[in-house]
Amino acid sequence: MKKKVLVTGAAGFIGFHTIKSLVSEEVYEVIGLDNINDYYPMTLKFERLKALGIHPDFIRYSKESISETFKDFKFIRMDVTDEKALFSLFQKESFDYVIHLAAQAGVRYSIDNPNAYIQSNVVGFNNILEACREYPVDHLVYASSSSVYGLNTEQPFSVKHKVDKPASLYAATKKSNELMAHTYSHLFNIPTTGLRFFTVYGPWGRPDMAPMLFANAISKGEPIKVFNNGQMERDFTYVGDIVEGVCKVMTTVPSENENGNQYKIYNIGNSKPVQLMDFIETLGNELGMEVKKNFMPMQDGDVVSTYADTSELSREIGYQPKVTIQEGVKEFVTWFKEIYSKS
Ligand SMILES: NC(=O)c1ccc[n+]([C@@H]2O[C@H](COP(=O)([O-])OP(=O)(O)OC[C@H]3O[C@@H](n4cnc5c(N)ncnc54)[C@H](O)[C@@H]3O)[C@@H](O)[C@H]2O)c1
Repeated sequence: MKKKVLVTGAAGFIGFHTIKSLVSEEVYEVIGLDNINDYYPMTLKFERLKALGIHPDFIRYSKESISETFKDFKFIRMDVTDEKALFSLFQKESFDYVIHLAAQAGVRYSIDNPNAYIQSNVVGFNNILEACREYPVDHLVYASSSSVYGLNTEQPFSVKHKVDKPASLYAATKKSNELMAHTYSHLFNIPTTGLRFFTVYGPWGRPDMAPMLFANAISKGEPIKVFNNGQMERDFTYVGDIVEGVCKVMTTVPSENENGNQYKIYNIGNSKPVQLMDFIETLGNELGMEVKKNFMPMQDGDVVSTYADTSELSREIGYQPKVTIQEGVKEFVTWFKEIYSKS
C-alpha cells in the first residue's frame, strides 16, 4: 500500500515543490492543505495549485479537490487553526507522514502583525502536534528557520549552538515550534524532525523575498532597495536541493537520542554564503538589465549574515546540495521571464 503524506502549506513556495516531487515518485498518496491566505497575491498560490492539477474553481473550504494531473494528489483548503476540521482530516486519512510547512512566514511582517504569527505558527502548530498525538504518524517533519540563530555571531550556524536570541517574533515562533515538538516527542513518543531552512530561492518563489522583489523592480527599471548598504550575506539555497532534503528526511525517522526521544533538528542550507551585492549582480546579468540601487540602512528584525553548517544532515541522510547560485538564478529568471511576459 502507498504511504500517505500530508503536506501543509501546499499552495506555498516550498510546499508546492515538495508535492511535485512526492507525486512524481508515484509511491505516495499525497494530501495538500492550505488556507490560501492573502499575505502575498493569492493568484500565485492558485497558479501553483493549477500546476498540480487543482483548478481554482473546484476549491472549497474543508472539501477535497482531486488533481486532474496527478492521480495520487488531493488538495483541501483548510486552516491549521481549525482544530475540529484538522482532527477530522487526520482521523479520516490516517497519515503515515506529515510535512508541516504552513506558517505565517516573513520576518518584517511580524513587526506589525504579531497575531498572525501566534495564530498560524503557535496555535496552528499545536493543533498539528495534538492531531499527531491523537492519530499517530510515523514521522512529523516541520519547517523551522535559520532565523532562530537571531543575534548569534559564531559562524557557520550549527545546531549545536544555543539559540535564545531571536531578532523577530517570527524567529521566536519557529524556536517555540522546536520546543513544542520536543515536548511532544518526549511525552507522546511522536517522532519529529525540525528543518531550519536557509533563504530558499527558485522558480515559483515568494514575492515578499529578495529575489522576487529585486527581479520585479529591475524588470520595471525601478531601483531596488539594498538594505544595510549591501553589507549582508545569505546562504541562498536552491529550492530543488531543499526539496530533495525534505523528502529524504521524511523517510528517515529519527532514532532515539540519549534521552530516549525521537527528536531531531537539522540545518538545511547550501553552506556557501553569497554576498548580497554578488547575488544582485548575478540576477542583473541573468535578466540582462541595468540594476539601479537604492542603498538603505539595516531593517529591524533582520540579521547581517547567515551560513549553515549542514554536516549532520550530510552525514545522517546524505544531503548534498548541488545547484550553484549561477545555475539557480538562471532557473529562477527563466521562470520569472515566463510569468512576467504573461502579466
Ligand atoms: N522560503 C524560505 O526561505 C524559508 C526560510 C525559512 C523557513 N521557511 C519556512 O518554510 C515554510 C514554507 O515557507 P514558504 O517559503 O513556502 O512560504 P509560503 O508563504 O509560500 O507558504 C506557506 C503557506 O502556508 C499557508 N498558510 C499560512 N498560514 C496557514 C494556516 N493557518 N493554515 C493553513 N495554511 C496556512 C499559506 O497560505 C502559504 O501558502 C514556512 O513554515 C516558512 O516559515 C521558509
